[in-house]
Amino acid sequence: MRLIRPHGGTLVNREVTGIERESLIQAAAEMPKLQLNAREISDLEMIATGAFSPLEGFLGESDYRSVRANMRLANGIAWTIPVTLSVTNEQAEKLREGADVALYQGANHLLGVLHLTEKYRYDKQREAELVYRTTDEAHPGVQALYSQGEWLLGGRISLINRQLDVTFPVYRRDPAETRSLFRQRGWRRVVAFQTRNPVHRAHEYIQKCALEITDGLLLHPLVGETKSDDIPADVRIQSYEAILEGYYPKTRTILSVLPAAMRYAGPREAVFHALIRKNYGCSHFIVGRDHAGVGNYYGTYDAHYIFDEFEPEELGLTPLFFDHTFYCRACGAMASTKTCPHLSSEHVTLSGTRVRELLNAGELPPIEFSRPEVAAVLIAAQRAKTTSAT
Ligand code: ADX
Repeated sequence: MRLIRPHGGTLVNREVTGIERESLIQAAAEMPKLQLNAREISDLEMIATGAFSPLEGFLGESDYRSVRANMRLANGIAWTIPVTLSVTNEQAEKLREGADVALYQGANHLLGVLHLTEKYRYDKQREAELVYRTTDEAHPGVQALYSQGEWLLGGRISLINRQLDVTFPVYRRDPAETRSLFRQRGWRRVVAFQTRNPVHRAHEYIQKCALEITDGLLLHPLVGETKSDDIPADVRIQSYEAILEGYYPKTRTILSVLPAAMRYAGPREAVFHALIRKNYGCSHFIVGRDHAGVGNYYGTYDAHYIFDEFEPEELGLTPLFFDHTFYCRACGAMASTKTCPHLSSEHVTLSGTRVRELLNAGELPPIEFSRPEVAAVLIAAQRAKTTSAT
């Protein structure tokens, strides 16, 4: 049973073990130190486990420029998001190209080493325009970019220790582990679903449409850094457990978390999300409405159109595109603008704000919008938050 090959052909593994690890730990004591932020810690781990294959480290300048302008690495391999490590002027002054840098979580937890090959300056505004399609500082991805240091550090990494306080250990599986799980189950055609939200009926519908034509579903919520008004990952995990228990075939579904940070880069992030899932062994990837979008920065289907800028063999996996889906009272079923002939007044659609209002009031959203088990989890979380605030 052959699974899809990793992006670039080989699953990267930059985690050191045994004697190599011991000697790197010793050497790290003498190296200059850098403390990473949450996104950088997650990027480091994603590189080390092969989730970002073919990347073996943080981007050097030629790859950075090529990704920014052409959505491809300098060698032509498709890659849409610059995975970079920034430092301030003062920090950059102290670092020497060709020397190793020890990477830390907080002051004391050694994560790994950057084998620094180059440090370079970069144009943040250009990156914002090309990657985020906006220079508006209110955009969370642009905001993060503008608050970074003025220099980028490029080079391969070696991971020595995983991060502290790992969340959801039972659901954390590296790409090699999901691949082996798919093989055990005899799956070859696997569809991945990216999400940073609870699974509502619209999500469930597109997942199940995809499940009709594949062997299995990887429900793969992102649990790295998200913006503060997104629903916290622990609440989401409870809601996934509730819906899987009641409504999904156990033998055809796997829940696993993606420890990546959200960038909110819309179309570019949709391709990035797809390539990451290819590394986890998925042959298909769902792209719905406004994938990885935020506010009104992207057109509803921009994340579909961007896939036309790649030849299918450049990506390797099959994107499954879905239009806006909803429950239609006249159809008496879930549907989309592609399949439903009725007026929008027949459609049960709720804005995020309206859902929050209902949950705050302790009211269940309509059953056509959300499974009651999911809504119950969200209401309980809302109550706990209100109680702890008072
Ligand atoms: S995202 O940032 O991870 O894209 P979200 O969790 O809301 O946000 O969406 C997960 C996936 O479901 C994305 O592919 C998104 O495009 C899709 N999606 C969300 N809501 C709908 C909907 N009503 N109709 C179709 N697709 C949807």
